[in-house]
Amino acid sequence: MKLLLPLAVILLFASISCAQTNDANRNKGTIGGPCEGCEAIYESPTPFEKLDWFVKLPDWGGKGIKLGINGIVYKADGKTPAANVIIYVYHTNQQGIYPTKGDEKDWAKRHGYIRGWMKTNEKGEYKFMTLRPGSYPNSKIPAHIHVFIKEPGKNEYWIDEFVFNDDPFLTTAERANHKGRGGVGVLKTIEVEKDFQKATRDIILGKEIPGYR
Ligand SMILES: [Fe+2]
Repeated sequence: MKLLLPLAVILLFASISCAQTNDANRNKGTIGGPCEGCEAIYESPTPFEKLDWFVKLPDWGGKGIKLGINGIVYKADGKTPAANVIIYVYHTNQQGIYPTKGDEKDWAKRHGYIRGWMKTNEKGEYKFMTLRPGSYPNSKIPAHIHVFIKEPGKNEYWIDEFVFNDDPFLTTAERANHKGRGGVGVLKTIEVEKDFQKATRDIILGKEIPGYR
């Protein structure tokens, strides 16, 4: 019994923190299926039209393994770069917590302050700099970075989280849970210098996205 309570807390924590829950009321659009918290993409402090293709998340500059992620967003043909696609990312700190400062509103209360928004440039490029996240406390859930996207004229939807190829929690079973929404989200990091890793992920709009048209 003593073990059941912590397990229940972990499961509850995981269920309220992840995007892929089955709350059908959250997603008001028709593309991508249910998406709890996807509307957080509209909480950007910078208007979409003024977003840059490159952003440093608020944890950048703190202690931890620095992480730079970049890539190109392609249209559904997998070849044509997609400009003006809004990308929203958020993740935990190294302790696996979505940290807050106490004055958060709306989805920031759950997503925490380690989040950022970008808009792809004419080459379809995006890039963000942050610190590498950790797994949820006392869990075996792989460390991950949530990512929602919104392209012009379509509703926002979630794609596979960024996860890390060298994460011991990224088991075969866990990998099978990732359906390749928006393309493969497994990052192969390269250490460019001590405690500074880089990785690339290209994103394909609509790939494995239900209702995409
Ligand atoms: Fe999460």
